[in-house]
Amino acid sequence: MANPDDLRYTKMVLNNGSGAMPALGFGTLIPDPVATRNATKAALEAGFRVIDTAERYRTEREVGEAMQEVFQGGKIKRGDVFVITKLWNTNHRPERVKPACEASLKKLQLEFVDLYLIHTPFAFQPGDDQDPRDAKGNVIYDRGVTLQDTWRAMEGLVKEGKCKAIGLSDVGLPQVQEIVEAATIKPAVVHVESHPYLPEWDLLNYCRKNGIVLQAFAALGHSSEPKLVEDPVILAIAKLVNKTPAQVLLAWAIQRGTALLTTSKNPSRIQENFDVSTLPEDAMREISDGIKSRVRFNAVVETGVPGFIPRKK
Ligand SMILES: NC(=O)c1ccc[n+]([C@@H]2O[C@H](COP(=O)([O-])OP(=O)(O)OC[C@H]3O[C@@H](n4cnc5c(N)ncnc54)[C@H](OP(=O)(O)O)[C@@H]3O)[C@@H](O)[C@H]2O)c1
Repeated sequence: MANPDDLRYTKMVLNNGSGAMPALGFGTLIPDPVATRNATKAALEAGFRVIDTAERYRTEREVGEAMQEVFQGGKIKRGDVFVITKLWNTNHRPERVKPACEASLKKLQLEFVDLYLIHTPFAFQPGDDQDPRDAKGNVIYDRGVTLQDTWRAMEGLVKEGKCKAIGLSDVGLPQVQEIVEAATIKPAVVHVESHPYLPEWDLLNYCRKNGIVLQAFAALGHSSEPKLVEDPVILAIAKLVNKTPAQVLLAWAIQRGTALLTTSKNPSRIQENFDVSTLPEDAMREISDGIKSRVRFNAVVETGVPGFIPRKK
């Protein structure tokens, strides 16, 4: 077990010799550009060393500006920060993968990202419209490209140095198995919704056996109902260990062997969320075995349509 003071600095070794990723990560799915810039700076200043963004969040430019500002301050260098971005569904065609990655790098003002993820396994009609719909409002999928085709193009990006590692997001176990079996470069990270209401034990076990890091998003349940931070088991443990419910949830995620992403626009919560420490083993067991509710907050994994990003009218 990690020393309580060190849990927040836990690092997870990635396969393919692509280094290590801090377990405790900060996500930038924040609709407002000014809030995104401020939150990214606050997260880096609080100690977070993983910053997650995506072409689809439309936050790459603000994240890039915030990082540059912090790097210019001199205390934190590019090499200290693990940057993640994602290929959107409309760019799954192999010939679109490299231009999409390069466009992300330009916005982020970076030479490479540490991790590039296929945002969802669903290919949408290629083009500039990120949310292509037919006259009836149904998503237009692209049946002319497979996940394996896109993966091969992602492997090309590693070889060209545009990203250090590649991975999958919003996938189920069968899709991870399919790519692991077909890949030359295996996924380093599988990024999915996970928290005590959606522990994804089978996926986590598979990832462990195959040297893949599972990165849990919505680690606090995205403030959605039923609120995880108000779960009676979490509240009781928080009181017992003299930590906040959010700190308990984040510690649980790291101690059970996942990386995680959490988000806040609020500087004091950002500091709170970095200040995690090790939970006693019985508290870990109580969360893992005692919480029986099962809730998925984000349906993106079923359709490829983002659950936490409002649709433009
Ligand atoms: N691949 C995907 O499809 C996908 C989908 C969703 C998310 N993600 C990534 O994962 C990241 C994290 O997801 P998430 O936004 O759902 O994370 P989350 O941390 O579960 O939820 C964020 C919400 O929790 C609140 N919060 C933060 N700290 C808190 C605290 N200490 N106490 C109480 N409430 C707190 C925030 O409110 P305030 O801002 O008001 O503090 C915000 O409403 C995203 O930013 C994104 O990078 C990926």
